[in-house]
Amino acid sequence: MKEMKLTDQTLKKIENGSAVIGVVGLGYVGLPLILGFVSRGFQVMGIDIDRKKIDSLRAGESYIEHIPSGSIAEAVESGKLEVTTAF
Ligand SMILES: NC(=O)c1ccc[n+]([C@@H]2O[C@H](COP(=O)([O-])OP(=O)(O)OC[C@H]3O[C@@H](n4cnc5c(N)ncnc54)[C@H](O)[C@@H]3O)[C@@H](O)[C@H]2O)c1
Repeated sequence: MKEMKLTDQTLKKIENGSAVIGVVGLGYVGLPLILGFVSRGFQVMGIDIDRKKIDSLRAGESYIEHIPSGSIAEAVESGKLEVTTAF
C-alpha cells in the first residue's frame, strides 16, 4: 500500500474529527477560535503565557466581553478543552 502523506493524514484527521488542535495565544483571536473548534467536536489544547488567563479559563470564566463565561465553562467541563501555560 502506498504510504500516506503527512498532509493527507492531517486532512483525514480533520475530516473524521480525531485531530487534536493546538492554539497558541488565547486573546481576542485565540479564545473565540478554540471555542469554535470545540463546538465542532474537536479536542483542543490552548496555550498562553499569561497564568491569569489560564486560571480564569480553568475556572470557567471569560475575560473577553462578548464571550460568555458559560461557553468557557461548558467547553472545559466537556473535557474537550484543556488550557495550559506549559508548552
Ligand atoms: N475586540 C475584538 O473583538 C477583537 C477581535 C480580534 C482582534 N482584536 C484586536 O486585535 C488585537 C490582536 O488580537 P490577538 O488575539 O492577536 O492579541 P491579544 O493580545 O488579544 O492576545 C494575544 C495572546 O497571546 C498571548 N501570548 C503572547 N505571547 C505568547 C507566547 N509566546 N506564547 C503563548 N501565548 C502568548 C498573550 O498572553 C495573549 O493572551 C487585539 O489586541 C485587539 O485589539 C479585537
